[in-house]
Amino acid sequence: MTSLESHWQNVYAARAPDQVTWFEPVPEVSLAMIKSSGAPANARIIDIGGGASNLVDHLLGLGYPRPTVLDVSAAALAKSEDRLGVRASEVDWIVADMLTFASTQTYDIWHDRAALHFLTAESDQQAYVRVLKSALKLGGSAILGTFAPDGPERCSGLPVVRRSAPDMASLLGSDFALQESQRHLHPTPAGNSQQFQFARLRRIA
Ligand SMILES: C[S@@+](CC[C@H](N)C(=O)[O-])C[C@H]1O[C@@H](n2cnc3c(N)ncnc32)[C@H](O)[C@@H]1O
Repeated sequence: MTSLESHWQNVYAARAPDQVTWFEPVPEVSLAMIKSSGAPANARIIDIGGGASNLVDHLLGLGYPRPTVLDVSAAALAKSEDRLGVRASEVDWIVADMLTFASTQTYDIWHDRAALHFLTAESDQQAYVRVLKSALKLGGSAILGTFAPDGPERCSGLPVVRRSAPDMASLLGSDFALQESQRHLHPTPAGNSQQFQFARLRRIA
């Protein structure tokens, strides 16, 4: 097991899904941006670094067919599968490092809340963009949420790269157009707050 995997396996083994700092009962900003992307009702959506997030429950509730959740932690995905019960079979679960993910299909929406920001090395950030481009349809949307420039410097004990919406647009490059951005003050289960930045970018080339 790599150190990346063991870090995240331990995190999810140690805490209930609703006790991690990033827990949100309803992923309001993510859902609003998926809606405003104008994606069709049959859109294929992948949640990158989805962990044990409730987003997939909402995607199923909204009728999106076979959403995909990818995470390096099998323990995180198992928690979501347990929560969903029989509906877990309607989801594609992928245990993988997002940097080496070789997608066998293309998606209408690439969603990532608080996974990208762990990539501190320039080479890893470039690898992330390559994987994103290999998996996202032309005309599809990347919805990214990271800590904002005035957000925390660490997440889950690890250093993060804090970004503005233009920073995210610059990372993805000229093949993407920034469509929407939103700051979000996330209340943690312990009663603190964390400043997030979300951006929605359309793939135009
Ligand atoms: C802060 S949590 C956010 C989880 C989820 N997106 C949410 O909003 O609740 C970060 C997640 O990214 C996953 N992760 C971190 N690095 C990853 C990588 N290289 N490949 C895949 N998943 C990764 C972790 O296992 C963890 O579930």
